[in-house]
Amino acid sequence: FREHPLHLHHNKLLDFNSLEELPDSYAWIQIDQDDHTITNPNPNYPSNSCHGDENVPIINLNDPNAPKLIGNACKTWGVFQVVNHGIPMSLFRDIQQTGQALFSCSTHQKLKAARTPDGVSGYGRARISSFFPKLMWSECFTIVESPLEHFIQLWPHEYNKHCDVVVQYEEAMKKLAQKLMWMVLTSLGISKEELKWAAGPKGEFKWACSALHLNSYPSCPDPDRAMGLAPHTDSTLLTILYQNDVSGLQVLREGVGWVAVPPLPGGLVINMGDLFHILSNGSYPSVLHRVLVNRTRQRFSVAYLYGPPPNVHIRPHPKLIGPNRRALYRPVTWNEYLGTKAKYFNKALSSLQLCAT
Ligand code: SIN
Ligand code: FE2
Repeated sequence: FREHPLHLHHNKLLDFNSLEELPDSYAWIQIDQDDHTITNPNPNYPSNSCHGDENVPIINLNDPNAPKLIGNACKTWGVFQVVNHGIPMSLFRDIQQTGQALFSCSTHQKLKAARTPDGVSGYGRARISSFFPKLMWSECFTIVESPLEHFIQLWPHEYNKHCDVVVQYEEAMKKLAQKLMWMVLTSLGISKEELKWAAGPKGEFKWACSALHLNSYPSCPDPDRAMGLAPHTDSTLLTILYQNDVSGLQVLREGVGWVAVPPLPGGLVINMGDLFHILSNGSYPSVLHRVLVNRTRQRFSVAYLYGPPPNVHIRPHPKLIGPNRRALYRPVTWNEYLGTKAKYFNKALSSLQLCAT
């Protein structure tokens, strides 16, 4: 194997399509040639097995019981799929077309839209790459605020069309995220009135911030040794994920192991993030998830990351604190939390834990 000439060192981007073998830097599982057993170099990384004996809940948002079902799903899974969310299939087709147009650009083109070393938006590797010793078999285009500047670079003649799609998609996701927030809070017994301290004067999450991740997981010559996206929890309040019809997403279920979240036509996956974990005082834990790749088909996904504005403090809600239940975490803004996560990664939540007195 020889490294492709476009393998750049500054952010190590790679032309996946040119590879017939898995480069060493992407091989997550070491094969010990002497005793022919497969050993795992990373003790925190469970084996590639996947248990299918329990399924991630699917919730119909038109069901009057939806908040209660969501509450149960949050308590026991930290993830659920929603249907009847009101978002037209055409919007998923459009965002998928934009994604396809993006990821099928030449490496040269993509690099024109590359994320700068300390920038937040643009093309690059998964954001969590720096925490792992091996590289991941995926590419990510992050959009925070307007994608215009990058899209003009990629498509000087038709950037408008793709910008419109992104704006429409974000608007639809924001509405849905707000609706889901209220349902989740309702399931915790928190009313709009009681959330004013966090929700703004009108009790609406209009102030919320978001980012969009368009992810591509190209087909992989050696999927058993590769990792699409390594295990992590999201630093959000919640995340809304669209996935194309290629599976790969798994969540860790305590006592069971990794469980697949199968693509559901028109369905959306909702993950609870670390900030909601804090807001719920640990009642609704954030969920550890990862993505595996496969030999023949490209997976495409869009993650809408939803959280508070940078300077609003998220803290355990007063209603979830009492004589028998102390506040477990100290207040934190999204910005501070991202800093904590950048420092401690999967120990970020526990680093905010308050000691029992
Ligand atoms: C994630 O953003 O963590 C998941 C992405 C995917 O499922 O492809
Ligand atoms: Fe994630």
